[in-house]
Amino acid sequence: MSAAIKNVTVIGSGLMGAGIAQVAAQTGHIVTMVDIDEMAVNKAEKRIGDSIKRVAKKKFGDDGDGAAEFISGSISRLGTSTDAVAAVGSADLVVEAIVENLNVKKKLFAELDKAAPSHTIFASNTSSLSITAIADATTRKDRFGGLHFFNPVPVMKLLEVVRIPETSQETYESMCDWGKAMGKVTVECKDTPGFIVNRLLIPYTLEAIRLLERGDASARDIDTAMKLGAGYPMGPIELSDYVGLDTSKFIIDGWHKSFPDVELFKPSPMLEKLVVKIAETTEETLATMNDWGKAMGKKV
Ligand code: NAI
Repeated sequence: MSAAIKNVTVIGSGLMGAGIAQVAAQTGHIVTMVDIDEMAVNKAEKRIGDSIKRVAKKKFGDDGDGAAEFISGSISRLGTSTDAVAAVGSADLVVEAIVENLNVKKKLFAELDKAAPSHTIFASNTSSLSITAIADATTRKDRFGGLHFFNPVPVMKLLEVVRIPETSQETYESMCDWGKAMGKVTVECKDTPGFIVNRLLIPYTLEAIRLLERGDASARDIDTAMKLGAGYPMGPIELSDYVGLDTSKFIIDGWHKSFPDVELFKPSPMLEKLVVKIAETTEETLATMNDWGKAMGKKV
């Protein structure tokens, strides 16, 4: 029997943390959302409030009372804090969604390990780091796993539940049950780089960039080919842009460092150049591009 998760502490109130906290509050959990940056957590709380109202409108339509109850219930279950150690005191589950940096994550979990009750399950939402390496900072590897959500969390149905060799069956089942209570479809994966989705997606988009790099096909034709030939909603070049070229480079560089012999993880000179170019774009160029976008009647 897995233990039911009621109190959830989400650490990090950025893109992912805010989404996880929102969905947890909407699905009846008592949530504390934490960030080291007070402004960030306040902004996230406001964004979540607005998003819950939009969800209520969609979910309840003309049922005004139902919508009002959903909104006030969800908001009343969501609290915020800037003190992670204090915020884990009554947590059944801690989901970490802070900056993608192994040492920063390890430092956080080492502190939380001392403060959280013994039954508390720890999980990381990392996209590219090893769960085992993060869990090494704690004394509760049997109660540690990965809970990898997708952006935007309120919309994307998938949750990858990642087990390390030490994750107990009870912990694994609790994480899966919680995922289902969050309205997600869970899939199980071992602690392997990129888990399932990113392990396939990142090398795929990189192969598309390599195809372009070799001059085998144009960016437009690569995207058209995969949309019309493979039935994908977005082409790989477009997808790389959506993910962010810097994010793709960060992930592949990390994997290449850990697994230098894996051909699919080798860096691409074109990706390197493009990321440097983006970083070198001047404020003036950005302002001109923004003005042009606005003149075109677009929201930038
Ligand atoms: P983000 O940059 O939007 O938010 C990170 C937040 O963490 C910031 O508000 C920052 O102030 C806070 N933070 C940093 N260090 C902290 C600490 N020690 N204690 C408390 N708060 C701290 O990042 P994002 O995109 O939400 O990503 C967070 C994690 O989720 C990363 O591990 C990333 O790999 C993972 N992830 C990201 C996805 C994405 O599409 N952006 C998808 C799935 C996972």
